[in-house]
Amino acid sequence: MLEVEAVEAAYGPFLALSGVTLRVGPGEIVALLGPNGAGKTTLIRCVTGLLVPRAGRIRFGGAEIVGLLPHAIVERGLAVVPEGRRLFGGMTVEENLDLGAFTPHARAGLGRGRERIYEIFPILRERRRQLAGTLSGGQQQMVAIGRALMAAPRLLILDEPSLGLAPRIVETILGVIGEINRGGVSILLVEQNVQAALGLAHRAYILEAGRVAGEGSGPALLQDPHVRRAYLGPLASLPGSRPPLP
Ligand SMILES: Nc1ncnc2c1ncn2[C@@H]1O[C@H](COP(=O)(O)OP(=O)(O)OP(=O)(O)O)[C@@H](O)[C@H]1O
Ligand SMILES: [Mg+2]
Repeated sequence: MLEVEAVEAAYGPFLALSGVTLRVGPGEIVALLGPNGAGKTTLIRCVTGLLVPRAGRIRFGGAEIVGLLPHAIVERGLAVVPEGRRLFGGMTVEENLDLGAFTPHARAGLGRGRERIYEIFPILRERRRQLAGTLSGGQQQMVAIGRALMAAPRLLILDEPSLGLAPRIVETILGVIGEINRGGVSILLVEQNVQAALGLAHRAYILEAGRVAGEGSGPALLQDPHVRRAYLGPLASLPGSRPPLP
């Protein structure tokens, strides 16, 4: 579905991605993990057409998408929930959602699209006339996800959707991502919440300093000593194992 091959991207002289290769297959949830500054958002900018890679290929649905404008990529069925949500705070929830339905296909199904979002996030139906800027962080994230879904994507990319949210809200958001996936949408999930992401994802990649430093199934990476040391902390206990006795 999405194939990123040997992608290099730079900001001026600074090489942010050097030879990144990864793929997301149909029906998969793939997590993209890595520390601050690793290049996760840069990779998403390349895939969504906001940044043109210096080298490499990016295919979606079998066709090359490097060089296409962002809206043309959305029209092909790839939508993104950007880092920091990027809502229009002075517009209502419903107006923000409608902005996601800018492709002709999505426009035609506007009412149905909204209805589907309100089924996934009932609170947004109650708040549909409220200004997005006055919502809680968790509700704003729901609007950002809803807006991306309004484009009826086949692949949904989320850039740190749980950032700054309380654990209970994170659980809700990740639960919904699982539900969206079961509805037939492939997912590429950027997360710093490594334990939760690996619990949800079928596979994951680890990006460090612009390179893929590891990949594997969620459970395999959860057991990987390097991953555990670097991302889960020295005290992380193995799933199912008992905490050490005092
Ligand atoms: N517009 C820009 N101009 C110059 N350098 C940039 C720009 N955006 C990002 N960078 C640099 O590129 C590198 C990768 O940044 P990127 O935002 O992709 O990281 P990230 O993995 O998304 O980090 P985070 O987890 O903090 O969001 C960093 O060193 C960053 O400073
Ligand atoms: Mg980022």
